[in-house]
Amino acid sequence: MPKRKIEFEFSAGLRWTHWIRAIAIFVLTVTGFYLAYVFVAPNASDEPVLFLNAKFRMWHEIAGFILIAVTLYKTYLFFVDRISKKERIAFLDFISPKIWIQQIKYYLFLGEHPKLRGVYNPLQFVAYIGLYAMVFAICITGLVLYVHVYHDGIGGMLYDYMRPLEVMMGGLAMVREIHHIAMWGILIFVPVHIYMAIFNSIMGKEGLIDSIISGYKFINEDH
Ligand code: HEM
Repeated sequence: MPKRKIEFEFSAGLRWTHWIRAIAIFVLTVTGFYLAYVFVAPNASDEPVLFLNAKFRMWHEIAGFILIAVTLYKTYLFFVDRISKKERIAFLDFISPKIWIQQIKYYLFLGEHPKLRGVYNPLQFVAYIGLYAMVFAICITGLVLYVHVYHDGIGGMLYDYMRPLEVMMGGLAMVREIHHIAMWGILIFVPVHIYMAIFNSIMGKEGLIDSIISGYKFINEDH
């Protein structure tokens, strides 16, 4: 058995928000598909009490604001938090051509895993930048859609700021389109992310998946 060293990898805030975001994305996808194409309808009633569409939209918006809050918090952690320094340092691996080549060779089973300075390898880093671009796009377009749904509170407050963005995007129909396309971007990311996590956990044998639950990784000292 190779010797393992225990190492603290991810802060509690980072881990909690990872799973809250995963649940929010799941809820947003199910309710979002309904908003795009109504796939269930209640039995017809004479009374105006059903409001199924409004209920789906309400849960979509609740999960949407949770996603926005989590995104802002995670962005703050990335740039400011002391424990997240390991995430920031990953940028140095990202700009190193040597690490890029070693990493690609590793995925092709042609070489050893490169020795990284940060917590993410360069391919992972690119994937996360792409994810954030899509999450920001979906949050902004979501807010543009939201100010047309609810005119008090945050909706009313943001209305004047969202309208120019709506015009820049080519009108409300285009905003919906962009929102929908960004969803597919996220939906492509998710299975690849899960596949890579399992791949690296099996190949690395360092408790990678455990680290996003417990915070700790078990580094192989022979590496
Ligand atoms: C992973 C994140 C999200 C996914 C997968 C998602 C998905 C969707 C989809 C598929 C639609 C229907 C668009 C269409 O007509 O084709 C939609 C509509 C909408 N989304 Fe999202 N969305 C997300 C995040 C958000 C966020 C952060 C907000 C902000 C509060 C938001 C607010 C809205 C609103 C207000 C609508 C329009 C509802 C209506 O037309 O009645 N969404 N979303």
